[in-house]
Amino acid sequence: MQVLNELFEKNKNWVTKITDEDPQFFTQLAKDQKPEYLWIGCADSRVPPNLIVDLPPGEIFVHRNIANLVVHTDLNFLSVMQYAVDVLKVKHIVVCGHYGCGGVKAALGDHQYGLIDNWLRHIKDVYNRYVEEINSLQDEEAKFRLLCEKNVIEQVTNVCNTTIVQNTWKSGRELSVHGLIYDIADGMLKDLEVCTTGQEQIGSAYKMV
Ligand code: CO
Repeated sequence: MQVLNELFEKNKNWVTKITDEDPQFFTQLAKDQKPEYLWIGCADSRVPPNLIVDLPPGEIFVHRNIANLVVHTDLNFLSVMQYAVDVLKVKHIVVCGHYGCGGVKAALGDHQYGLIDNWLRHIKDVYNRYVEEINSLQDEEAKFRLLCEKNVIEQVTNVCNTTIVQNTWKSGRELSVHGLIYDIADGMLKDLEVCTTGQEQIGSAYKMV
């Protein structure tokens, strides 16, 4: 427990700060959650969702994994998304990647890291899909940044192709899926402008009636 003293101390100070500003904050928050956003982000410690968009607890429903991947057989992810969309009725799904992503860097290279290679393989598939465009760049950093972006764009597609999202669109409810990338070097978020809002925007092979 000794080593966690810092965390308990910080937690106490944080509660004091919040309740000084709004004595009802936790009482209200305990009643319900109505987040408008589902955030799919990287597990990287430098990309904490609520902090980088300056939103308090209760505003973002979050799923994080290595390299912000959306894998349609990942029961953990699917459960998070189905609950967020069907029960919480979020209005926006945000896939947020980041430059400098260790998972993306590993997928660009040829080293083995063990079990995780099977997870990173999903990023290798993205690399393979855009290999000519990425390898046409001379600068290694530029290649790395481009694959970070392509990875986000592919995950946005993966979100849209799920039956969960398609069924929501078919029901007539508004739901938009966005791809963003965060720069850990300056703290800025960038919109990759792949916002998808309806079934007509997805590939015909993935369309489900
Ligand atoms: Co990362």
